[in-house]
Amino acid sequence: MTLKSASRKGESESKEAQSDVDICAKILATMEKLSHIKDVHALLDAVLLEARQMTRADAGSIYLIENNVLNFSYIHNDTLFGASGVNRYLYASQTLAVDNHSLAGYVALTGEPLIIEDAYQLPAGMPFTFNDTFDQRSGYRTQSILAAPLVTSNNKMVGVMEIINPLNKDGQPSAFTPDDLLLLNYFADNAAAAIERAMMTREIILRMIKMCELRDPKETGVHANRVGAYAAEVYHQWSLQQGIADDDIKRRKDLLRIAAMLHDLGKVAISDLILKKPAKLDSEEFRTMQYHTILGARLFQNQESDLDVLSAEIALNHHEKWDGTGYPGKIDDIYQDQLPLGAGKQGEEIPIAGRIVALADVYDALVNQRVYKSPWSEKTTLSYIKDQSGKHFDPEVVDAFLAIYDVIAAIREKYQEEGSSSLPAASH
Ligand code: C2E
Ligand code: SIN
Ligand code: SIN
Ligand code: FE
Ligand code: FE
Repeated sequence: MTLKSASRKGESESKEAQSDVDICAKILATMEKLSHIKDVHALLDAVLLEARQMTRADAGSIYLIENNVLNFSYIHNDTLFGASGVNRYLYASQTLAVDNHSLAGYVALTGEPLIIEDAYQLPAGMPFTFNDTFDQRSGYRTQSILAAPLVTSNNKMVGVMEIINPLNKDGQPSAFTPDDLLLLNYFADNAAAAIERAMMTREIILRMIKMCELRDPKETGVHANRVGAYAAEVYHQWSLQQGIADDDIKRRKDLLRIAAMLHDLGKVAISDLILKKPAKLDSEEFRTMQYHTILGARLFQNQESDLDVLSAEIALNHHEKWDGTGYPGKIDDIYQDQLPLGAGKQGEEIPIAGRIVALADVYDALVNQRVYKSPWSEKTTLSYIKDQSGKHFDPEVVDAFLAIYDVIAAIREKYQEEGSSSLPAASH
């Protein structure tokens, strides 16, 4: 085998490769100690829900500061899309500068909260303008806005939360009160600390993925973000189709997004000669490559948290196929040496998270460029996926994927290879 740890290329490469694996295992152990690992999306969802309940607001959105701009990061809108469905607005790729050209920009600039009675009738002499892009695209009518800066106790600005259109007891639009402002501002300060922590966790995860996969840092971060988001949203849709309860969906979705980002971590143990080969792998090389599933699962051997368990499950099962022709197949003990691959798992023997990430990963591999292949067109990719329904893929997962294809497209647009990675290029 040409696993890095058993490289035939000589002592020095072998030592280096072993240390990659060790580093990766160490980072994972550290990660586990980060208490309350929570996905950014799940946290923003909870923050908006709480803030809107306090003020009876119909809608709200959160912008997070990343690379010195305000990045549109989460949205609620009961009138437009309610709370339980999958929706593409979550992945709108909008950024606002920290300046007077938008309300959120102004709030971030000054650090002061604002109450606006009617966004379309700003009092004369206001230093900022209202950015109506969202209303224009969606047909929504934003009226009252309460905008609060998200500032941590160390005075770090992490973003801006806007709560929109409070409803009175009769469900009619009303205005925010000074009490709402006080309440929201206080709440925003607490939320900021939690959001900052979740953003740091995400950053650590992305850095870890970059380090472990040893790839072009620009590419790997967005690939992980995309596969995580595709998997989370397909899971959400699939769960709705299965009639699973909302609370369960939210909890599993949160974990799944993070665990799906880690699906290929086992590639850390595969030699660059194979990983980066700009051509088709020969059968021995492919055989070696197949072990990234087992090696990935081993990295989560502590199996202490739900996240470890799910991450191991996904690493192990994301290349199984619905018709039983995938790998690594049924294996009694993944820790045993000289492991032969087993007979492929079939149908529902493959855990649902594995079935979902399989589709998310292949979709992403097909529509994008890889060192060994050119990007496929959307049309070719979609007809391939439909053709593979019931072969490579679980038909119900394909149905869920196609049902939310507008969301899939929005995710792809949001996490592109350049500029939109949520991390600046790592310096290692
Ligand atoms: P990956 O690049 O993330 O690809 C994930 C999966 O997408 C592949 O799993 C395969 O099911 C699908 N896929 C990717 N490209 C194509 C394609 O051109 N046609 C079709 N029909 N399906 C495609 P698979 O094959 O088990 O490969 C696992 C990993 O092994 C890949 O992950 C990649 O890292 C590596 N790999 C596979 N084939 C090659 C190759 O020819 N050259 C190199 N350098 N690496 C390869
Ligand atoms: C975001 O893009 O703001 C959130 C992404 C994530 O939760 O990983
Ligand atoms: C992967 O093959 O899973 C990662 C490839 C990439 O970084 O684009
Ligand atoms: Fe893989
Ligand atoms: Fe992958």
